[in-house]
Amino acid sequence: MDIWLDSANIKTLQKAVRFGLLSGVTTNPAIIAYAKRNMEDILEDLLHYQEGPVAAQVVAESTTEMVQQGQTLYDFSNRLIVKVPVTKNGLEAIHLLARQGIPTMATVVFHPRQALMAALAGANYVAPYINRIEKAGEDPWKVLACILHIFHNYRLQTKVLGASLSSAEQVIKCAEAGIYGVTLKEEIFEKMIEDDALTSQGVQQFAEDWKKAGLVNSSFLS
Ligand code: G3P
Repeated sequence: MDIWLDSANIKTLQKAVRFGLLSGVTTNPAIIAYAKRNMEDILEDLLHYQEGPVAAQVVAESTTEMVQQGQTLYDFSNRLIVKVPVTKNGLEAIHLLARQGIPTMATVVFHPRQALMAALAGANYVAPYINRIEKAGEDPWKVLACILHIFHNYRLQTKVLGASLSSAEQVIKCAEAGIYGVTLKEEIFEKMIEDDALTSQGVQQFAEDWKKAGLVNSSFLS
């Protein structure tokens, strides 16, 4: 499973790189707005501090302007993936960008029909919003299973990147479902690597046994 960060926080990004856990970064208009910096500078940093792709979202609503914004992003760097919401206009923009060889990620996906249409239009990734699907009263795991089933039926190469995740349990359920990857906010990434109380207890017990046997000051392997 691939792990992306859904964040513009460079410290978390560097940590994920250090741990060998980062495949890419996603942003959205809220993340960019929250960072309170110029979008160009943010994207430059995200491209600089890790080697993977960076997904940046268009904010226009018409197809023509979405395509223009997508082209601008791709001219800025060919490591940028153009994130496009799966509106009717967005689907057309995905198709037009795909025809120019510009990679796209269909975002704000709630239903399998949207994932199917985006994949057929040429999206490289679809991003179902797991937590928001659950909040809307639907079962996100059924939605994921259905998307995977459809993609498998028609051998669609579009990757499913789970977004809007609110717990480590949801991440594990995504892995269980077998989707390509997940994009995680800082706090969920931190939860994925945090020490478990039972592990810490086990490690402490080993340390005590080592100490009791008088091995603390002895050389480790001789
Ligand atoms: O990339 C955006 C997506 O992850 C949304 O998350 O928590 O606002 O539903 P959230």
